[in-house]
Amino acid sequence: MVDDVGEALGPFRLALNEALLGCASLNPDGRDLACHVSGELSRRDAAWSPVRRPGRADAHAHGSDCPALRHWQTAIAHGRSKQAWVASLCGCLDELRPHLPWYRRPEPDLPGFMAGHANAVLMGHGGLVESKCIRIGLTLMAPHTVYPDHHHPPAEGYVVLSEGEWRQEQGPWKAPGVGGWVYNPPDIVHAMRSGPQPLLAIWCLLLS
Ligand SMILES: [Fe+2]
Repeated sequence: MVDDVGEALGPFRLALNEALLGCASLNPDGRDLACHVSGELSRRDAAWSPVRRPGRADAHAHGSDCPALRHWQTAIAHGRSKQAWVASLCGCLDELRPHLPWYRRPEPDLPGFMAGHANAVLMGHGGLVESKCIRIGLTLMAPHTVYPDHHHPPAEGYVVLSEGEWRQEQGPWKAPGVGGWVYNPPDIVHAMRSGPQPLLAIWCLLLS
């Protein structure tokens, strides 16, 4: 286990960059987004020093208020059994796990969702590393959980690290598979859901 968050971020950044370049070559949808985020990761050497804020080492940071995190090791072990770049990225995420600022999307009318998901921002506002142009985060969902319909102005891409299904508007649910890439154009309504296994994915938003 790497104690220093800065040491854990370096390998993660390289592994995510490799993943994005692979996604961009496999799937033309959202290729520009993947390339843009990859470019930011490559360019911002000096900016990849973690933000230090008071209160980092509290219950929020450790995710003790996110019960879905009990599925973390299952999701990571599953990813580590898959193709090399997925295994590598999951290994990097496991190193970062103790440092991540976990939170839940507030949906008080959806108790199953509240108990069944955990988000963390890696880069961008509220994350480990600051950025004004991109936001990169992580979502873990317990089995049989639906992340409800939502939309946002920035385009979004998901690097898929587990089984799971994604949907846009009222279209069919689609399963990109482990190592897949999902692209959501700006402001499109979208959702995702897990099956019998936990869902784990990295999301990237292009802010400018
Ligand atoms: Fe989204």
